[in-house]
Amino acid sequence: MTYLRWVFFACFVCSSLGIQTLSQSCDQVIDLLALKEFAGNLTNESFITSWSNNSFCCQWDGVVCGKEGNESVATRVAMLILPKTGLKGTISRSLGHLDKLKLLDLSCNRFKGVLPSELSNLKQLQVLDLSHNRLTGRVSPVLSGLKMIQSLNVSSNSFNGDWLELGGFPNLLVFNVSNNSFTGMLNSQIWSASNGTEILDLSMNNFEGNL
Ligand SMILES: *[C@@H]1O[C@H](CO)[C@@H](O)[C@H](O)[C@H]1NC(C)=O
Ligand SMILES: *[C@@H]1O[C@H](CO)[C@@H](O)[C@H](O)[C@H]1NC(C)=O
Ligand SMILES: *[C@@H]1O[C@H](CO)[C@@H](O)[C@H](O)[C@H]1NC(C)=O
Ligand SMILES: *[C@@H]1O[C@H](CO)[C@@H](O)[C@H](O)[C@H]1NC(C)=O
Ligand SMILES: *[C@@H]1O[C@H](CO)[C@@H](O)[C@H](O)[C@H]1NC(C)=O
Ligand SMILES: *[C@@H]1O[C@H](CO)[C@@H](O)[C@H](O)[C@H]1NC(C)=O
Ligand SMILES: *[C@@H]1O[C@H](CO)[C@@H](O)[C@H](O)[C@H]1NC(C)=O
Ligand SMILES: *[C@@H]1O[C@H](CO)[C@@H](O)[C@H](O)[C@H]1NC(C)=O
Repeated sequence: MTYLRWVFFACFVCSSLGIQTLSQSCDQVIDLLALKEFAGNLTNESFITSWSNNSFCCQWDGVVCGKEGNESVATRVAMLILPKTGLKGTISRSLGHLDKLKLLDLSCNRFKGVLPSELSNLKQLQVLDLSHNRLTGRVSPVLSGLKMIQSLNVSSNSFNGDWLELGGFPNLLVFNVSNNSFTGMLNSQIWSASNGTEILDLSMNNFEGNL
């Protein structure tokens, strides 16, 4: 398990060509505004002081930017990596504007409320880890837009609903929805287009039917 995780992570890093950490402001029109609104929806902004006083958001804690096209500098937010940072509040709909985002890790915090439907706009997202929060509501309306997804971990929240209408995730390797309140039938179409899911964890839910 641990081995696979590291292999996966290494592959992800290697494939994320063009990512660099030069002192650089991120895109002012889209990304900066989106991150500021995200911060504004947190109730405990203690960690986020490093975010507040400049617009060099590619240097902010947990923010990694990447180059787009023939740009010589990285300006678009490619990863938001904020696990175990004591964050409380709701997940802002503004994150749906980060259209170059490839990795979103908000695991092990205290986010509550529902997932904003705008997250389904993250067409390039490969890794989504929202595990160990207090999130509720459905996941599949968001997941339906994430066609590039490789790893989904929404375990240990209070999500519910089913996955019936989902299908067609050709790169899906990790599907960890354990320890929630998901119900209903699973649609095997979720995996039919995939080369093979490596990690599947449906435990501690109320699923019916068979795979
Ligand atoms: C999040 O921030 C936006 C913009 O400031 C605001 O309109 C919205 O009400 C906030 N949401 C919550 C749940 O605080
Ligand atoms: C930014 O930080 C500097 C010193 O750390 C301070 O003097 C300045 O007032 C701050 N600006 C804002 C807008 O908070
Ligand atoms: C980058 O590509 C755009 C078109 O995609 C072009 O208009 C622009 O001149 C290019 N810039 C450089 C520095 O090559
Ligand atoms: C804010 O989070 C930090 C941990 O990141 C914690 O030590 C602090 O007590 C929290 N403050 C409030 C008011 O919840
Ligand atoms: C989420 O699940 C994946 C796969 O099971 C695992 O590699 C990852 O470590 C998990 N995240 C956390 C925060 O435990
Ligand atoms: C799913 O994620 C949880 C963390 O929330 C982890 O403890 C568990 O091992 C993961 N399941 C698999 C099969 O990796
Ligand atoms: C399951 O999730 C709850 C929160 O929803 C958490 O308190 C509990 O520790 C989790 N159980 C496991 C085995 O991870
Ligand atoms: C799945 O297979 C297709 C076709 O063979 C390939 O293009 C794609 O890269 C593969 N995806 C993964 C995650 O290996």
